[in-house]
Amino acid sequence: MKIGIVVGTRPEIIKMAPVIRECQNRGIPYFIIHSNQHYSEEMDSIFFKELELPSPHYNLGVGSGLHSNQTGNILIKMEPILVDEKPDVVLVQGDTNTVLAGALAASKLGIKVGHIEAGLRSYDRTMPEETNRIMTDHISDYLFAVGPNQQMILQKEGIDQNKIHTVGNTVSDSLFQHLEISALKSTILNDLQLTAGDYFLVTAHRASNVDISSNLMELLHLLDEMHANYTGTIVWPIHPRTQSKLKEFNITLPDYLQLIPPVGYLDFIQLQKHAKLILTDSGGIQEEACLLGVPSLTLRENTERPEAVEVGASELVGRNAEKAVKAAKQWLSREDYSWDNPFGDGHVAKYILDIITNTRNIEEEEKIV
Ligand code: UD1
Ligand code: UDP
Repeated sequence: MKIGIVVGTRPEIIKMAPVIRECQNRGIPYFIIHSNQHYSEEMDSIFFKELELPSPHYNLGVGSGLHSNQTGNILIKMEPILVDEKPDVVLVQGDTNTVLAGALAASKLGIKVGHIEAGLRSYDRTMPEETNRIMTDHISDYLFAVGPNQQMILQKEGIDQNKIHTVGNTVSDSLFQHLEISALKSTILNDLQLTAGDYFLVTAHRASNVDISSNLMELLHLLDEMHANYTGTIVWPIHPRTQSKLKEFNITLPDYLQLIPPVGYLDFIQLQKHAKLILTDSGGIQEEACLLGVPSLTLRENTERPEAVEVGASELVGRNAEKAVKAAKQWLSREDYSWDNPFGDGHVAKYILDIITNTRNIEEEEKIV
C-alpha cells in the first residue's frame, strides 16, 4: 500500500497534517505532492515547520494564476509523478483548485482517489469551490464525509453508498493536537497587546467578498458599524488575496482596524480561542470557532457548513451590517454558551487510514454516524 498525499493551500496543509502523521505512525509508505498554490512563507512553509511535517517530496511550483491555468498546470505536472510513483490511493482534502486537479490526474490514470471533507455543498455555483467539490466527489472512490448531512447529500446525488464513509473532519484532529502547545508557545496576545475576551477577530478572502470593490466596501462598512456599536479592538490577519485587492482598489483602512499579516497556526488558535466574537468567510475558521466554543458571524449568504449554524454556534450575516450588529448584540449579552460538536472527535485521520488499509471496524463506523 502506497499513498499519494496532495496539498496546495494553507487549510489543506493544516487539515492533511494528521493524515500524514498517521501514515508515519503506521509505517505506511507515502509521498507528499505540494502544488504550491500557496507559496508565501506565512501561507505555506510556516505550517510545515509548526506542524512538524516532512518537506513535500514533490513541489510543483504552480503559484497563482487564473483558474484554468492553475488547475491545468497542476494536472500536467502531477501526471508524470503519479505514473512514476504508482500509488494505490491519492488523497486530496477540501475544495481548492489543487484538490480538483489532484483528483482528476489520479482518476485519469486509474488510481483510486480519496476525498477528505466530501459532500459539502453551498448550492452556490458562483463559488469556484463548489465546482471543485462536486467534480471531485463524483470521481472519487473513497468519499470521507464529515457527518450525516454530507452522507445524505452524496447519496441523493447518486453516489454508491459503499464509497461513502462518514468519519468527521480532520480539522478536529489538528485543532485538538495543537491546542495545548499553542497555549504554551504562542505569545500573540501579548505581542499585539490584546486582552483575552475583549477583541473581535476578522478574516475574509472569498472572491465574492473581496474581488468586487463595492462588496469589499460593504464588508468594511459592516466593520465600521461593529466598531461604532461595540468597544474593543478588531484584529484582522489579512489574507494575501484581500491585501492585493485593497491595494488594487486603492482603499485605505481606518485606524481602529488592527491589520496584521497572516499568522502561524499556533498563534491563530490562540487568537480564535480568546476572541469575544469571530467574523469570517473562511471554511476552516467556521469549523474551528465552533470547536473552540467561540461564537462566529459567517460573512456569507450561504454556507457548505450549515452545522455550525444548526448547533447555534454561528449566524449567517453576509455583508449586512444591520444583521451583524444585531447578531453580535445577542451573543455579547449572553453570559456563557455551549453547543454540540458536529465536526469530528479528533481521531478522524485514524478512521480514514483504517478504511483505506481495510482495517476499519464496522461497529466503530456505526457509532460515529
Ligand atoms: C484559495 C482557494 C480557496 C481557499 C483559500 C485558502 C481556490 C479556487 N481557492 O483561495 O478555496 O479557501 O485558498 O486560503 O482554490 N497569494 C499570495 N501568496 C500566496 C497565495 C496567494 O500572495 O501564497 C495571493 C496572490 O495575489 C493570488 C491571490 O492571493 O493571486 C489568490 O490566491 P489563490 O490561491 O488563487 O486563491 P485564494 O484566495 O488563496
Ligand atoms: N489560519 C492561520 N493563520 C491565519 C488565518 C488562518 O493559521 O492568519 C488557519 C486557520 O486556523 C484554519 C485555516 O488557516 O485552520 C483556514 O484557512 P483559510 O481561511 O485560508 O481557508 P478556508 O478554510 O476558507 O479554505
